[in-house]
Amino acid sequence: MLPSTNPTKTSSWQKLVDHHDKMKDVHMKDLFQEDQDRFKKFSLQFNDILVDFSKNIITDETLALLKSLAQDCKVKAAIEAMFNGEEINQTEGRAVLHTALRNRSNRPILVDRVDVMPQVNMALAKMKSFANKITGGEWLGYTNNPITTIVNIGIGGSDLGPVMVVEALKPYATHGITSHFVSNVDGSHIAEVLKHVNAEETLFMIASKTFTTQETMTNAHTAREWFLSQGAKEADIAKHFVALSTNAESVKAFGIDENNMFEFWDWVGGRYSLWSSIGLSIACTIGFDNFEELLEGAFEMDEHFQTTSLDENLPVLLALIGIWYGNFFGSESEAILPYDQYMHRFAAYFQQGNMESNGKFVDRNGDKVSYQTGPVVWGEPGTNGQHAFYQLIHQGTKLIPCDFMAPAISHNQIGDHHEKLLSNFFAQTEALMMGKSREEVEKELSAQGKSADEIKAIAPFKVFEGNRPTNSILFKKLTPKVLGSLVAMYEHKIFVQGVIWNIFSFDQWGVELGKVLAKKILPELNHNEEIAEHDASTNGLINTYKAMRN
Ligand code: F6P
Repeated sequence: MLPSTNPTKTSSWQKLVDHHDKMKDVHMKDLFQEDQDRFKKFSLQFNDILVDFSKNIITDETLALLKSLAQDCKVKAAIEAMFNGEEINQTEGRAVLHTALRNRSNRPILVDRVDVMPQVNMALAKMKSFANKITGGEWLGYTNNPITTIVNIGIGGSDLGPVMVVEALKPYATHGITSHFVSNVDGSHIAEVLKHVNAEETLFMIASKTFTTQETMTNAHTAREWFLSQGAKEADIAKHFVALSTNAESVKAFGIDENNMFEFWDWVGGRYSLWSSIGLSIACTIGFDNFEELLEGAFEMDEHFQTTSLDENLPVLLALIGIWYGNFFGSESEAILPYDQYMHRFAAYFQQGNMESNGKFVDRNGDKVSYQTGPVVWGEPGTNGQHAFYQLIHQGTKLIPCDFMAPAISHNQIGDHHEKLLSNFFAQTEALMMGKSREEVEKELSAQGKSADEIKAIAPFKVFEGNRPTNSILFKKLTPKVLGSLVAMYEHKIFVQGVIWNIFSFDQWGVELGKVLAKKILPELNHNEEIAEHDASTNGLINTYKAMRN
């Protein structure tokens, strides 16, 4: 069980409220002026990853108080509880052990007094043997052609993790396997993918922890019908369909051979499952060795998280800085801005990771919280974002803490593309921090020969207040290992925040109500009679839809 402390009732919280009063008008520019060692003091190196958190509205005192908050909320004990397999997902009665999937030390991890490592290792060995057959061209389709295409059918954690990693590690996809991802129940998604694949060389991976999810099962049945319509027979399904799931019974009922089922367990949360059999599309695209490197990178971050003191613990620091802005400055969102095109799904991945985990208004005692919990997480790769939404980050009325990420070495050293990309990466955090004062603007306009009246008219719009906080995460190269560490770092950040906010981060009851209502509405769409069972708006919408479609 996790300790349950109302964070607002701790003495550190009150001290942070008072401290915020002192800090709210402090400008980072001055903090940098006052302390030449600020970068050294407020940055940490972890293997090939540098995290610079010096461009935040923080001082030594801020960090000390935030660390006391972590201590008051017993973060260290919570970390131990998670790694030891305690039932910390209390509302679902489950342990939370995605860390066991990448436990490269193989030390025993007990769930209900049974070591889970033998089954983890067996599942990995099965994945390895299968992935090697696919990448080695040994697994043959019904016309004896090797598999060249994978279609992963899944949604949420059974889609976002695999697609994010496959995209991020595209330079490692050298085995001739192309992966597609179908998630949306909108038939257009699967229709467009099926237009471009050849049944004889395609392997469908039905990825669903529960194997009951409406979107995935609908797409899986459509894929199966399409496959059979291409000249294949029922008996050929065994060569072209595999399941990644915890639900053996439903997999069998769907008609997938038991040997073609890659299992995982209920102690792996959907949005934390890319390390499990759900990652099979990753292993088959980039090769199993690279998949193992990904696990290794995550494992090293796990070790860091578990063993490093709060002072130098990256996930803890990032979590505390997030809490500082959300709970004391009142910021409501966080942007993740990778300056790496391959990471274009990274923000979307952590949108689910963060918002499904910490979007909760009830604390671990079942009481409504009186403070903000999970932020709105969003982002796009740089520099695209700069030409879309950075205006608001620079000059809007909202405080949006941003994480900037970039590799020092590009996988594609073409001309000076990378230097241009990185010059933007460095410039943006500098601009967000420094801003541009009225005085500077006036000086600049005057140097351009503008008249006093012209300067007066235009100057206000050109002022940047600055003092907009950022973390800069600079890594050597986007390798499988680095990516593994980065993903684990954010996973643990989310965990620490959930512990401090005293909420349950590993359930997702909030997705249920909509699902239940959709199930009720579906049969109402199967006839043309008017509906009067719902509220006036929902009735009106359904009845208009019926009129429109006819
Ligand atoms: O959105 C709810 C959710 O349960 C996610 O947590 C999960 O990742 C997704 O649906 C898919 O679930 P499954 O893997 O069981 O199909």
